[in-house]
Amino acid sequence: MTDQKPTTTDAGIPVASDEHSLTVGPNGPILLQDHYLIEQMAQFNRERIPERQPHAKGGGAYGRFEVTADVSAYTKAAVFQPGTTTELVARFSTVAGERGSPDTWRDPRGFALKFYTSEGNFDMVGNNTPVFFVRDPMKFQHFIRSQKRRAANNLRDHDMQWDFWTLSPESAHQVAWLMGDRGIPKTWRHMNGYSSHTYMWVNAADERFWVKYHFKTDQGIEFLTQEEADHLAGADSDYHQRDLYDSIEAGDHPSWTLHMQIMPYEDAATYRFNPFDLTKVWPHGDYPLIEVGKMTLDRNVTDYHTEMEQVAFQPNNMVPGTGLSPDKMLLARGFSYADAHRARLGVNYQQIPVNEPKVPIHSYSKDGAMRTQNVTDPVYAPNSYGGAAADPERYPEAAVWASDGEMVRTAYTLRRDDDDWGQAGTLVREVLDDAARDRLVSNVVGHLSDGVSEKVLARAIDYWRNIDKTIGDRIAAGVNGG
Ligand code: NDP
Ligand code: HEM
Repeated sequence: MTDQKPTTTDAGIPVASDEHSLTVGPNGPILLQDHYLIEQMAQFNRERIPERQPHAKGGGAYGRFEVTADVSAYTKAAVFQPGTTTELVARFSTVAGERGSPDTWRDPRGFALKFYTSEGNFDMVGNNTPVFFVRDPMKFQHFIRSQKRRAANNLRDHDMQWDFWTLSPESAHQVAWLMGDRGIPKTWRHMNGYSSHTYMWVNAADERFWVKYHFKTDQGIEFLTQEEADHLAGADSDYHQRDLYDSIEAGDHPSWTLHMQIMPYEDAATYRFNPFDLTKVWPHGDYPLIEVGKMTLDRNVTDYHTEMEQVAFQPNNMVPGTGLSPDKMLLARGFSYADAHRARLGVNYQQIPVNEPKVPIHSYSKDGAMRTQNVTDPVYAPNSYGGAAADPERYPEAAVWASDGEMVRTAYTLRRDDDDWGQAGTLVREVLDDAARDRLVSNVVGHLSDGVSEKVLARAIDYWRNIDKTIGDRIAAGVNGG
């Protein structure tokens, strides 16, 4: 007798061998009735599911969010009420790489959070950067393709990247940010997370505010130089994933303090920047950071596939007291993620345990592939048989805004201080110090010196001169060997 569990088939039937297939004699052919061998081979062939289109490489952990301040004047969301603690799952990622790509490539990092709140799941699907490369969702797909691989040689290609960026001047702020130190965080623990987009908060009196989320790392910002990152890409391509896992295993639990920028609803109409343009920040001098609470990651997943590969974040998961905004990118994301999950994980992806809300579900969704939760009658609404009914008194459609006009395909209307270069220039001139500026120039020169055609290079130098004349001149001198 032994305590060891007997191996079984997936149907729970004990098997006779972990090592030998069923054959006719020791040297004879394998038999079709060896259903255990067939199950092993068939399951193996189906282990991989499609990787995420962008953000394929990543990892994360579970944790909690504790509210430490009182922001009830701005939101009625239960998750942000004083004293509340909420369980959550976080996933960090690179954008352009594939599932096996190095963690230390220069790229923005995803910063995706799913809060299991008492009012359903609240997802904050941000990045480690406060802005983005494009401001219209029509360009997102093209942008991602330009960062991935070419058709002919299946190689990533700096010419393609700079071609897209320089033909899309709205990318300047994000590119300036990316080429600086923050473009390669030392670890996921040493970076901030930003909603980037403007969202809405609604308080108990149904007053509305425009808000931005800033999760500031309590570990301090640290970065890798290009040389360090290049070395690690070969020496330990899973460097960030290993760091987070090992830190949590060792009891060193990383944390982030959530701060909000909060804009009164009416300010949006007259603010000097379009407050919904994802390529812009709200300068802190205009809207200071207000502390809300602390997120701590303290528990590793035990099965990467079911808990990280199948975790499904979606920016449309907004609980009462929170909401979207007129940012066109955000509105498109409200559709795109759930669509991606249906395609990648199946229509019932919200029943995968990591995605399941921790509250009872009373939806009228029904059936579909891989459904595991039972549906009960009545299966329609309205009904007179005691089925769930929407409660607009308690849960009004409150996160709404005024909108009117002809249908058009056009850019946002420009405000007084809206242009593509200004905030990028502020970043390189006023936020970076001399050493950081030197590293920025060196990073850009290195990037542009690797396979960028003459016509794209000429545009790239103009692009940098538009951001800042001196930096542009230094980059020009660098790529010309000066
Ligand atoms: P502030 O001086 O108040 O803030 C500057 C911000 O820059 C801080 O949030 C700081 O991050 C961040 N920062 C510091 N070093 C770097 C770096 N190497 N790369 C990227 N960001 C860095 O100025 P403003 O709010 O007026 O913004 C000025 C510029 O700062 C903006 O044009 C924008 O490029 C950049 N910025 C602004 C943010 C905002 O939300 N207002 C957020 C991040 C960057 P931290 O203190 O968080 O570590
Ligand atoms: C992942 C679409 C912009 C952050 C994804 C995925 C899609 C997508 C389809 C894969 C989802 C999956 O399979 O799980 C889009 C579209 C955008 C957009 C259409 C613009 C119109 C942004 C922006 C941010 C962002 C602006 C950050 C502010 C992320 C993150 C992930 C992701 C963090 C990975 C989530 C995870 O860890 O599973 N995006 N995206 N995206 N996106 Fe976006």
